[in-house]
Amino acid sequence: MATTTASKPIADSAKDNPALTARQPDFAPGTGLSKAAYTAVAESLGAVLADSYQLFIKTQGVHWNVAGASFYGLHKLTQEQYEDLYAAIDVVAERIRALGHKAPASYTTYGELSRIRDEDKPLDAGQMVSMLTRDNGLVCESLRQALEIADEHKDVVTADMLTARLARHEQNVWMLRMHIA
Ligand SMILES: [Fe+2]
Repeated sequence: MATTTASKPIADSAKDNPALTARQPDFAPGTGLSKAAYTAVAESLGAVLADSYQLFIKTQGVHWNVAGASFYGLHKLTQEQYEDLYAAIDVVAERIRALGHKAPASYTTYGELSRIRDEDKPLDAGQMVSMLTRDNGLVCESLRQALEIADEHKDVVTADMLTARLARHEQNVWMLRMHIA
């Protein structure tokens, strides 16, 4: 027998989903950092996570769409970069959780938190490299801001993680620049 139940609009389903609407328990990690530190560092990591996700999508887009004489080198380089970003996203999100906060997890939220513009227009290889060079630079800026906050609150674990990310994005800028030098 065919079902006559109309499917629910997506927005209503989300509202009714207890997994999505459940309040986060008041979670005090109790590791010696102040409550203010947990909040300030987690918020700054939210911006780093959003930037990393936005850059991940754009880097993979270049991997797919690049064409021309530099195809092979850029196709390989962007694969290395988006794979690194994919791994980093998980590490940053889980650090936010270890600090007792909810990790942002929607494209809408990433768009709000990130300074990296969402763009999907046809570009030539040189324009693609310029875009990724600029965006990796923006991630470096977010990382430096987050590092300052982590240092201020003596969160050495987060600072260590952010320093490693900064080294990687500075290297990305250098490698991309070499393609248009
Ligand atoms: Fe691929």
